[in-house]
Amino acid sequence: MSEREDKSKQSMASAATGQDRKKFEMSDAKEYSCVKVEIDDEGIAWVSFNRPEKRNAMSPALHYEMEEVLPELETDPDVKVMVLTGEGVSWSAGMDLKEYFRETDNNPAARFKSYWSHRHWAQYLMLSSKPTIAMVNGFCFGGAFTPLAACDIAITAEEATYGLSEINWGILPGGNVSKVFSDLVSHRDAMFYAMTGRTFDGTKAVEMGIANLAVPGDKLRDETIALARELMEKSPAVLAFTKQAIKAVQGMDMNLAYEYLQAKQGALRNADKEGTRQKGMSEFLDNKSYRPGLGAVKRD
Ligand code: ACO
Repeated sequence: MSEREDKSKQSMASAATGQDRKKFEMSDAKEYSCVKVEIDDEGIAWVSFNRPEKRNAMSPALHYEMEEVLPELETDPDVKVMVLTGEGVSWSAGMDLKEYFRETDNNPAARFKSYWSHRHWAQYLMLSSKPTIAMVNGFCFGGAFTPLAACDIAITAEEATYGLSEINWGILPGGNVSKVFSDLVSHRDAMFYAMTGRTFDGTKAVEMGIANLAVPGDKLRDETIALARELMEKSPAVLAFTKQAIKAVQGMDMNLAYEYLQAKQGALRNADKEGTRQKGMSEFLDNKSYRPGLGAVKRD
């Protein structure tokens, strides 16, 4: 039995003894200091920024850890949905002003490495084939908008506090924040919040298109689980292809998008080993047992 299989068995055993969450372990048993990962027995990977005493500011160490964690989760068959959240009162207070900025101002090699590490893990998140949910539990400032935008869906506490604070201390929203923020919101809102640095809450974040759902903080976890369960009812292959299609067509003109989607649709027929399309057709048209407009076809 491989070490990975052995760990998988152990975690199933702990689930059976009443622990509904298992501590994620890397194959080399590496311990993380800035990121916490737990995979529950339903297949939800809870990835938490874990520097609550620093409001989960993103240090170089946090970037390196995220860069290791995300490919592990991407390739772990136990993981069906990833949720990105923060320990304590903050989602993330953005880049660490001390460790990411000041301490690397005179160390270009260190800055280069942590910049690229951040860029790599943000890309992993953005291009993941698994559904990703940002569960914004508190402060979300500056650089935190990059991973927020990289997630497919965002659910926020109504009381969360968001802001592009860069203007307040002399930099512009870099690390692609200007790009992802202005892709999410209207031009007017991008200008207003980048130029004033004013904060806004979770309800406003939904109104602006930054998050999908705002719920009271004490309901945030339960609502996230409900959302994750809804996603897990779908075929993973269909979900992955749907995500890829929505993202890919953004840069295409009409004709190219038609061609791309036609080809992608054909490729999905091969990729979806569950035969969801055929099953859905048969249950709707032949058995009359299913309404595709109203819910996912039952998976085996
Ligand atoms: N970088 C480094 N340390 C931070 C950061 C940060 N972005 N945010 C908070 N911390 C640290 C504080 O320095 C403090 O550390 P200390 O205990 O060693 O003094 C600790 O976290 C707690 O911070 P407080 O300010 O005491 O917490 P409070 O709850 O009162 O306020 C808030 C939280 C509003 C998030 C405040 O810390 C803040 O304004 N942080 C800066 C947010 C920001 O501007 N982020 C953008 C950074 S730039 C970028 O991302 C590109």
